Amino acid sequence: MGDEPVNVKEYQILAKQALPKMYYDYFAGGSEDQHTLRENVAAFQRITLRPRILVDVSKIDMSTTILGYKTSAPIMIAPTGMHKLAHPEGEVLTAKAAAACDVIMGLSFMPTCTIEEVASSCNAIRFFQLYVFKRREISALMVKRAEANGFKAILLTVDTPKVGRREADIKNKMIAPQLKNFDMSTEVDDSGGSKLEAFAARSFDPSLSWKDIAWLKSITKLPVLLKGVLTREDAVKAIEVGVEGIIVSNHGARQLDYVPATINALEEVVLAVQGRVPVLFDGGIRRGTDVFKALALGAQAVMVGRPVVFGLTTKGEYGARRVIEMLKDELELTMALSGCPTLSDITRNHVRMQSDNRH
Ligand code: FNR
Repeated sequence: MGDEPVNVKEYQILAKQALPKMYYDYFAGGSEDQHTLRENVAAFQRITLRPRILVDVSKIDMSTTILGYKTSAPIMIAPTGMHKLAHPEGEVLTAKAAAACDVIMGLSFMPTCTIEEVASSCNAIRFFQLYVFKRREISALMVKRAEANGFKAILLTVDTPKVGRREADIKNKMIAPQLKNFDMSTEVDDSGGSKLEAFAARSFDPSLSWKDIAWLKSITKLPVLLKGVLTREDAVKAIEVGVEGIIVSNHGARQLDYVPATINALEEVVLAVQGRVPVLFDGGIRRGTDVFKALALGAQAVMVGRPVVFGLTTKGEYGARRVIEMLKDELELTMALSGCPTLSDITRNHVRMQSDNRH
């Protein structure tokens, strides 16, 4: 392979060569049998495209607005933890890459740079991902800091009452670095397994439930989106409790194994939501065609997790930026070759799923 990757998957190969095994496994891995991890990518490969011909595609417009914020493409950076394990400058560089590409960045609740450092580094539009700790005051303070530092939305992760069983982390005795973002020690008793999991078990509030959305909405003016919705039942409930958006996500297959690939859960949620709130999507996006397929199935935008981290690992800000640029370029080409000059031209009729028998 030449030095300059030509697609985002090649960044993963380079990252594997560059990172200590413990860190690579943390970034790349999924839970238990990693069935869902494989499916998140494989399910995209089973969806084919139905291009339309003889459409004027001399101008392609990928720009859109997400929650009212203009962005160059329906692609966002997903919140992923601890970027300094990938690159010494961490999330600050990821934010700069987002700003350079004019896309929105999701910042994890567990970053290795502080909220303030990320906010002051550049003018990227940023959303803040929230975990709710047993010590609620810690989570509430993070929300306040995010709001004070110009973050535009809260992405409440709802698929993690407990951390999934990530066996590579257990074997590697994954460390829990001190996260200077919060005033709380990440030190745990040495149980011999994943220290990160032990820290999460001690900290995350497994009693978080629907009634707590009202609490969250009472402490912030920012729109609240639920990250981790996989069923029509929960999509309907989410709208009932007044959230401003839904993210179809299975946490990059790091939580419950044997949930469906997110691309196979997307349409069910979209049909239940009926356009009442935006539906975002993440999990397994590795190609512009994947972005196109998610949009065709009703997502307003997609978020990209691991590929950005692997770009950051390999070539810092430039690598993270190239990952987003490659996905944008591939999406642009897919739109041209499918006869879709604008995002609103992309419809359900542009994809065929194996379960479809209507075409
Ligand atoms: C994540 N994800 C995640 N989600 C979240 O809500 N808070 C977090 O701190 C993290 N941390 C995290 C770390 C790593 C290393 C990964 C790979 C993922 C999940 C993330 O937001 C997103 O849902 C997935 O990464 C999307 O799947 P892909 O794009 O990685 O396939």
